[in-house]
Amino acid sequence: MLKAKSLRKFAIFSLIALFILSIFMPFSSAKAAEDNSLQEIKDKKQLVVGLSADYPPYEFHQTIKGKDEIVGFDISIAQKIADDMGVKLDIKEMGFDSLLGALKTGKIDLIISGMSPTPERLKEVDFSDPYMDVIQKVIVRKADKSKFKTTSDFDGKSVGAQKQTTQEELAQKEMTGSTVTSLQKVPDLILNLKNNKIDAIVLEGPVADAYVSQDDSIVVSDVKFVNGEKQTAIAMQKGATSLKNQVNKTITEIKDENLLKGYQDEANKLMFQKDSFFNQYGHYFLTGTLYTIILAAIGVFFGAILGSLLALMKLSKTRWLRWPASWYIEFVRGTPLLVQIFIVFFGTQVFGLNLSAFASGCIALSLNSAAYVAEIIRAGISAVNKGQMEAARSLGMTQGKAMRYIILPQAVKNILPALGNEFVTVIKESSIVSVIGVGELMFMTGVVQGASFKPFVPLIITSLIYFVLTFGLSRLLGVAERRLKTSD
Ligand code: ARG
Repeated sequence: MLKAKSLRKFAIFSLIALFILSIFMPFSSAKAAEDNSLQEIKDKKQLVVGLSADYPPYEFHQTIKGKDEIVGFDISIAQKIADDMGVKLDIKEMGFDSLLGALKTGKIDLIISGMSPTPERLKEVDFSDPYMDVIQKVIVRKADKSKFKTTSDFDGKSVGAQKQTTQEELAQKEMTGSTVTSLQKVPDLILNLKNNKIDAIVLEGPVADAYVSQDDSIVVSDVKFVNGEKQTAIAMQKGATSLKNQVNKTITEIKDENLLKGYQDEANKLMFQKDSFFNQYGHYFLTGTLYTIILAAIGVFFGAILGSLLALMKLSKTRWLRWPASWYIEFVRGTPLLVQIFIVFFGTQVFGLNLSAFASGCIALSLNSAAYVAEIIRAGISAVNKGQMEAARSLGMTQGKAMRYIILPQAVKNILPALGNEFVTVIKESSIVSVIGVGELMFMTGVVQGASFKPFVPLIITSLIYFVLTFGLSRLLGVAERRLKTSD
């Protein structure tokens, strides 16, 4: 009996999973055939370029006249491409490892992010003609310079590289004796190098020079690679021929008129522009904090509404309400928030909804929080002594009345404190949505790290801000809790 029941449950669940999968399938095989790529961009009058602005002098953040801007020679190139098309340039920033996904799902039209064409990438996307040749360098701590002269000197050492880059591949292929540590952002690598967590970083030549020129504790080593020569190009969706031709036309012009040199000089000048730390970066922390608070508030608000609904479903007598709720809760609690965020961000695109990163972040956080809130509420209600319900019923109350007047008021006292903790958790977890480029506190920290070439100080400031937020909130909740207690 029991076996048959759980078998049926399993069968239904598999069917639902299959159904969901089949919705996604047709979309992935569509496309190709006609190429309207260029016309589409002209029609929407906007070219959306994706990049990871942690890469001076290619692309990085800088305060210009009190306003945060993404600058660098890649931006100058992007601007020229947009100008040549007669459309507006829109920059979307995200982690380097999210760029290919964003391009393939149509979140962005081009990747201009110091990206090198590789055989693996060419299977997924198309590339323009290269606009630059670069060599790869290895940076080490100043004191270690004489220790590391060739790639084999890193045997048994730990070498860092940015996640899913050609540098990562190079380290794996040519520094075979070393362990490779891959991180998402370049400033985090620098921090790890300075703190002796890793012994070297493989970096694109110009980026290595940029970081070294800003920090006397690190230097470029004499290490040379066999396959250290790479090219930099612009990526677009496969088959976007008209777009590619247009981009190539601009690149040819940049080469013919030798414009790149000017772009680079401009980028270098911007890199060295200095002001006091707080004047220059204070507003990043401020906007970041604001975004974090809004994100968490929205997440908890909608999470609470949806969560109450789920809790009621789970407590219901009909299994058609109980099961979906249970599965939802199990699924959400059993998968990482990071994965859920990516599913919402890229998934909505598959369904033709072009949600902003912020909207996606809010939705993902709400959906995630709902599962936890549902459990909090359910547990809160279940924790009320069974005898309470029995007593109420024997006094002649209906089930609904007993719930409303006897059970819920007692349950609320269990629920509210736990709900408060959930708010604190969401504030902290919201930092994860930085991966899709929502400008909240953690994201802004990365921006400041990259722009200031100070990998550590921004982290300390950010941790303090998070602490003030969560500590303040739990204090506030403590006061509310005590109030509730005295009303007993
Ligand atoms: N050129 C390298 C690659 O293609 C790294 C590029 C990283 N770019 C960035 N903006 N962080 O993999």
